[in-house]
Amino acid sequence: MSSVSFLVLVLVLLVTCSEAEPATEFAEASDGGTAQLSCNLTPTHPPDKVSVVLWYRGAQESPIYKYSLKSNRPQHWADASLDNRYFLRVLDDERAVMSISPTKQSDEDVFHCRVDFHKSPTRITHVNLTIVDI
Ligand SMILES: *[C@@H]1O[C@H](CO)[C@@H](O)[C@H](O)[C@H]1NC(C)=O
Repeated sequence: MSSVSFLVLVLVLLVTCSEAEPATEFAEASDGGTAQLSCNLTPTHPPDKVSVVLWYRGAQESPIYKYSLKSNRPQHWADASLDNRYFLRVLDDERAVMSISPTKQSDEDVFHCRVDFHKSPTRITHVNLTIVDI
């Protein structure tokens, strides 16, 4: 195999892998501080609108947080176990941030933000949250 075709093969593999499994982002917060987990809201086929944002924790099947734009006003729902410490803020058409405050050591986990659109395919952002002692 020539070096050029090898390079092309590597590039094709890189592109297909990154599409299939988006990279995990990292977030860090101090124990008792504020964590900010970012979520990508960009539709694949603009113009399009977000319908629902769901946050999952680890391998849990049920979402821990829901944000819905199905009615006139945005609706937030958070699992009772979160003690009102989690809140999702939509910054603009491209980004939302989940704030956790005050954080606890037990918040440390990998979170998944799932965004459903009216037309575009579902988008998922993975965030690996680490809680550090200071
Ligand atoms: C999350 O980050 C921690 C610390 O860097 C690492 O040990 C762990 O393997 C990561 N988990 C995943 C699923 O990426």
